[in-house]
Amino acid sequence: MKEYDIVTKVKEMDYAELSPEDANLVGMAAAMTDNSYAPYSRFRVGAAILLSNGEIVTGANQENVAYPSGTCAERSACFYAHARYPDAKFVKIAVAARGTNGEFTDSPTAPCGACRQALLEYETLAGTNVPVLLAGAKSVIEVESVKALLPLAFVEF
Ligand code: THU
Repeated sequence: MKEYDIVTKVKEMDYAELSPEDANLVGMAAAMTDNSYAPYSRFRVGAAILLSNGEIVTGANQENVAYPSGTCAERSACFYAHARYPDAKFVKIAVAARGTNGEFTDSPTAPCGACRQALLEYETLAGTNVPVLLAGAKSVIEVESVKALLPLAFVEF
């Protein structure tokens, strides 16, 4: 038997510590919470994806009266990004959310399991780590890759 740890390295940064590019990406994810359609949960999520062609594609959660038919911000962004720019690689992802009180969540909101799996597909296509910036009200957590968010992921069949 072998036993080992799988380690997820994260950085936590104050907003003042972000590079201008990261601050812009986080700002775009935060702004996209305005475009969330969340009449059922009232939890508004925005995502922004920087692509290798310099474009930034954004998304927001879109809910549906038949609850499972809705989708998260991250998937609305990543599916559109690859549909619109199929040849571009994902470079970096940012996520931000506002809770039912309308304020940005204190602790950073991390992608759900299904979104981690969806994002991993595009990280695999990119062939390099795609860091994920998770924005909280006062600080931002950077995870080094999507893979780090989904250890022991299902990647092939
Ligand atoms: N949601 C996202 O858009 N992204 C996440 O990472 C977590 C959850 C959405 C789904 C649903 O519309 C609402 O937030 C509450 O779960």
